[in-house]
Amino acid sequence: PQNVGILAMEIYFPPTCIQQDILENFDGVSKGKYTIGLGQYCMAFCSEVEDVISMGLTAVTSLLEKYEIDPKQIGRMEVGSETVIDKSKSIKTFLMKIFEDCGNTDIEGVDSTNACYGGTAALFNCVNWVESSSWDGRYGLVVTTDSANLLRPGLCRGTSSTNRWSRGCCYAHGPDAPIAFESKFRASHMAHAYDFYKPDLASEYPVVDGKLSQTCYLMALDSCYKGYCQKYEKLQGNQFSMADADYFVFHSPYNKLVQKSFARLVFDDVARNASSVDESAKEKLGPFTSLNGDESYQSRDLEKASQQVAKPEYDKKVQPGTLIPKQLGNMYTASLYAAFASLIHNKSGSLDGKRVMMFSYGSGLTATMFSLRLTEGKAPFSLPNIAKILNIEHKLKTRTELEPGKFVDLMHVMEHRYGGKDYVTSKDTSHLASGTYYLTHVDSKFRRYYAKK
Ligand code: ACO
Repeated sequence: PQNVGILAMEIYFPPTCIQQDILENFDGVSKGKYTIGLGQYCMAFCSEVEDVISMGLTAVTSLLEKYEIDPKQIGRMEVGSETVIDKSKSIKTFLMKIFEDCGNTDIEGVDSTNACYGGTAALFNCVNWVESSSWDGRYGLVVTTDSANLLRPGLCRGTSSTNRWSRGCCYAHGPDAPIAFESKFRASHMAHAYDFYKPDLASEYPVVDGKLSQTCYLMALDSCYKGYCQKYEKLQGNQFSMADADYFVFHSPYNKLVQKSFARLVFDDVARNASSVDESAKEKLGPFTSLNGDESYQSRDLEKASQQVAKPEYDKKVQPGTLIPKQLGNMYTASLYAAFASLIHNKSGSLDGKRVMMFSYGSGLTATMFSLRLTEGKAPFSLPNIAKILNIEHKLKTRTELEPGKFVDLMHVMEHRYGGKDYVTSKDTSHLASGTYYLTHVDSKFRRYYAKK
């Protein structure tokens, strides 16, 4: 099959959120820390009636309906998530309910997990399947869904703005896609690190070394970019530089790291002496190329200078893919794909022929840089139709903002419920749009029950 890639996309995120400037006040941190320091505007979170499974059910049902895809036409479903609901039973099996009801149980695939990278692993499994000899001509479906606490509400003050985030997102895969993979040009960096991990199986909270995780992220970015350039150059016979890509989309724990990452790539091009680098960039960043790796990750002067040099290109090539991550917070496995959905939303009419670089990072650590080639496509699988169905502006506008006190109360309920059984959730689903799935109860054998509004 030719041009294997993404044909259709849908995004679901919870309709409850809190503004970051209100959180700054509530947490007692200095004004601007979350909004300017981390670059975040708003944070989404689930209420007690939603979880990764309900969001997955909502997103998959909506995608099938809106693109009029017959559930029997799905031959593979992969889920990327780092939210543990069950140590054995995959999230994918919960989502099978939709397909079983339509008489389709012939669907390969299970869950992929490694921090925020699971969605990318799931995506590659689907793309590789469509490109393989075992492909049976049907669509592949990828679901990325997470809902997770970064820090305990009581401990989060002064340390983080991203406490709880969540979202379900899914994509259908097949040939002749408007979002096609350049499968030959991808490079990974995988290594052992304790930057962010969840060793306590009784808790949903991670152990995080924030500063180390930032350095690991940037190191993995450098390594993947180097690998990508080498593969491209070997296959194409000419040098690759940032000038060869129209957009850059990053895994986005918070926007400041995205700004630093793009600036890092600009510095990498200067250090590789890429022919597209102009004199002024060489002059400003050249002196830093003598730093060794460690020094260059620690240098505030380099960080500042490269961000300043990168700013005009950042506005053009990165900014369009930052909307949803800034409005929702870190979405773990869904983060990179929410950023990509932002690009489709902002530029859907002018993406024909464009190349998009994607950088996926999952702590622990696993990372890949890959690229996509976009074409307008044909309805219903066209970029303008995907943008219409994503309907991002409406989804963002119709959210309900909660007071910090209510948010913290909700976090306490969820914390108490984590890993629990024998409970019934709130009967109040007034904030959910019709068609949304929600959790009704968990019985004495931990079995979970869902209903559709
Ligand atoms: N106005 C403007 N800027 C401010 C203000 C203010 N009032 N206060 C702080 N800042 C700036 C700081 O200067 C700093 O900027 P810099 O990054 O350019 O140095 C930034 O805000 C953050 O401030 P810190 O004091 O470093 O904040 P903190 O100690 O809370 O650490 C961190 C931030 C490390 C990101 C933390 O939130 C964390 O551990 N997050 C989770 C780990 C993470 O997301 N890692 C990313 C990859 S792994 C993954 O995806 C989970």
